[in-house]
Amino acid sequence: MLMTWSIQQRGVRRLGIDVETVYIALGSNLGDREEHLNRAIERLKATPGVAVVACSSWLETEFVGDGPEQGRFLNGVLKANTSLPPLALLGVLRALEVEAGRRSPHPRNHPRELDLDVIFYGDQEIDSRELQVPHPRWHERAFVTSPLRELGVNLDQRPRAMGTRLAHEAAKVCEQVSDWLRGGCVVGLVPTMGSLHEGHASLMRRAKAECDRVLATVFVNPLQFGPGEDFDTYPRDLERDLGVCEAAGVDTLFAPSASGMFASEFASHVGVGAAAAEMEGAVREGHFSGVATVVARLFAMTRPHRAYFGEKDAQQLVVVRRMCADLGFPVAVVACPIVREPDGLALSSRNTRLTAEDRRAAPVLYRALCAAGDRFKDGLRDRDLLVRCAQDVLATEPRCAVDYVELRRARDLAPLAAADAVCGARMLVAARFGDVRLLDNVALNDEVAP
Ligand code: PAF
Repeated sequence: MLMTWSIQQRGVRRLGIDVETVYIALGSNLGDREEHLNRAIERLKATPGVAVVACSSWLETEFVGDGPEQGRFLNGVLKANTSLPPLALLGVLRALEVEAGRRSPHPRNHPRELDLDVIFYGDQEIDSRELQVPHPRWHERAFVTSPLRELGVNLDQRPRAMGTRLAHEAAKVCEQVSDWLRGGCVVGLVPTMGSLHEGHASLMRRAKAECDRVLATVFVNPLQFGPGEDFDTYPRDLERDLGVCEAAGVDTLFAPSASGMFASEFASHVGVGAAAAEMEGAVREGHFSGVATVVARLFAMTRPHRAYFGEKDAQQLVVVRRMCADLGFPVAVVACPIVREPDGLALSSRNTRLTAEDRRAAPVLYRALCAAGDRFKDGLRDRDLLVRCAQDVLATEPRCAVDYVELRRARDLAPLAAADAVCGARMLVAARFGDVRLLDNVALNDEVAP
């Protein structure tokens, strides 16, 4: 049964104060649920600046989510007019939740006496750390949509969750990030060259779990490709990439054009010293300067608190960390574990360019690293013997042309002495299968074996 109250504006219009119509979702699955919900309504009716207009009937729903097992919810939606600014209204709602017995802060997805969420605040879009309206998931929840319908809200005319916004212009992204920063949000950046796969998605999900807002970038950076490398054939599929970002909860995907990133008069490049001279740096001259330059540019444009990189490109991680420390970017560089196919092949955008035969051959990289890892677990600590062990496995695969196998100090990939006790070391391999170059690596230490 729909409950309706007469509108009492408490004179706010006469004082010339703006009044907005708000919709607030109510829920409870702990204690006397109905009592908690009714009491919240009574308390809101008594709150100066809030005039309750109507409330939907209660709906009983199962708990959905990844929290502990718990009882069914009683849900509904309330319509009110308010002269309270959004954050003041939010403060009132949080205080009512605590008054009902809810702990603050409340463990995520645990049973609760009272849950009060602002779904709509007039037509306003608010994107601050404390409050996002329209509520980002209102349209996915039947226990919100069906009470809203009951209250006469035309759902087709209401903005859906913002989803992942696609931006091509730097100015738009800067403005968006400025809004987030003004709202006190922790901003996470996931820089990529697109052709996104589960490895990228894992970075995005981690960023989502650790930050209030996530910005991903897709830019195939010409500066990090040398002459004759695969810049032109590098896989590109922005529409698919947008889908991966949506599914991972990315707030904005920034996909600039080459001229938007680097104006024609662009002339400043970041040099990255010893960390960039060997291994990938030796095979791909100028590669890491190109990476460091674009990452520095992205950091400057997007001002993230945290930036997420995959451990698959271990040398890139070392270079980015060095650059970040040297140039004083206040960004925490977060390393995320390699994601692998069931046969051990590390996920890479370049895997799609392997022929069927090369795809079958490519897991030899991981097998070689694992063989060295097994010898390490058995107690072998000699650098050259561990490298030889990996090389022997690689040599069994004729389609694999090895560029290098190296055992390096994990922290900075500095060379190890020949018979070093290789605690905290990383074994890295690079090899070509046809014209596709693949990288892989594993940590060799006492805690983490492959
Ligand atoms: O790892 C990559 O995809 C790229 O090197 C990066 C970090 C996005 C810079 O272009």
